[in-house]
Amino acid sequence: MTFPHLLITGGAGFIGSNFVYHALKSNLARRITVIDALTYAGNLENLSAVAADPRLTFQRLDITDRPTLDSFFASTEFTHVIHLAAESHVDRSIAGPEAFVRTNVLGTFHLLEAVRKSWSGALSLQSVADRPNRLFLHVSTDEVFGSLGATGAFTEETPYRPNSPYAASKAGSDHLARAYHHTYGLPVIISNCSNNFGPFQFPEKLIPLIILNCLQSKPLPVYGDGQQVRDWLFVSDHCRALALLLTAGRVGECYNIGGSRERTNLDLVRAICRIMDQKRPAGAPHDRLITFVADRPGHDRRYAINSSKIQSELGWQPTQAGDRALEETVDWYIENRNWWEGILSGEYHEYYARQYGA
Ligand SMILES: NC(=O)c1ccc[n+]([C@@H]2O[C@H](COP(=O)([O-])OP(=O)(O)OC[C@H]3O[C@@H](n4cnc5c(N)ncnc54)[C@H](O)[C@@H]3O)[C@@H](O)[C@H]2O)c1
Repeated sequence: MTFPHLLITGGAGFIGSNFVYHALKSNLARRITVIDALTYAGNLENLSAVAADPRLTFQRLDITDRPTLDSFFASTEFTHVIHLAAESHVDRSIAGPEAFVRTNVLGTFHLLEAVRKSWSGALSLQSVADRPNRLFLHVSTDEVFGSLGATGAFTEETPYRPNSPYAASKAGSDHLARAYHHTYGLPVIISNCSNNFGPFQFPEKLIPLIILNCLQSKPLPVYGDGQQVRDWLFVSDHCRALALLLTAGRVGECYNIGGSRERTNLDLVRAICRIMDQKRPAGAPHDRLITFVADRPGHDRRYAINSSKIQSELGWQPTQAGDRALEETVDWYIENRNWWEGILSGEYHEYYARQYGA
């Protein structure tokens, strides 16, 4: 299925840029427009390999800027929207929650309003092959569900209990998206995904942080006892799931997406160290660099996702077994030194010093 015109918000960020590549490669839309405010986390270099593709247009736009958003929507018509723009780092939300409320809650509200106005009159939920002719896919996180005990997994019915300001702001945006479907009939699907990793992930997130610190022989900071459990998913598996939801997901539904690859943070850090020992034997053993640091306030202990709904309804499966995807990710950071060296200076350098005192 090829959509007439797909809008991707946050397309210069980690998952957004990976999704742009996926959408172009799979011919998901005849035209693709990316909007992104290019905050510290957005990087146009992420899209440089496809910048010349005639199907792709980029516009720098902040979703909290309503007048600009309204004139943007007045000038162009989109049939499908995938909303990825967000403030996304839990640690930053603890240090400065306001930006999270502004972008994730208020920004999502402005976007939903702009889309609702733009689509009023154009909506037909039963069009070609029973697919809606318009669709808004709101991309969210499993962190909205809070923390699990030693057993169990989040389902689509799990009540929301967000613990960090990041998770609370994402929960607020999910509620708005759901309400716009319920009240105004806006064709919305919501996805809640577990932790992603892969190329183009900003160095503040755990996996690139550990890879880059290994490459620079710097301490590998592990929060608390390192026994927090996460369910890691390779970003390309997430992108496939998102494309499937756009083409075949049921309107008004929520879908959980997860890798069914639970592991503790410490186990994950050790796995990266083992890969680095092979790739950079001169620095081995890299796990000598592991340094336990004060735990993140309110740190959720365990997340696990039950993704049987998207698996049974749409046939989606995570494809990455073992640590192959982790190794691919390490290779990407080794091969793309220019990309991350540019980021490690400037704003990120100051952030890192504040966070880890080095
Ligand atoms: N990374 C994960 O593990 C993960 C897991 C599940 C869900 N998600 C969700 O997926 C989405 C993308 O996450 P990511 O990891 O790619 O984040 P990211 O921080 O790498 O990218 C976010 C992008 O949004 C842009 N942006 C921020 N504020 C904006 C604004 N006001 N207007 C326009 N653009 C703005 C940034 O410039 C950046 O390009 C987020 O909604 C996040 O909550 C992420």
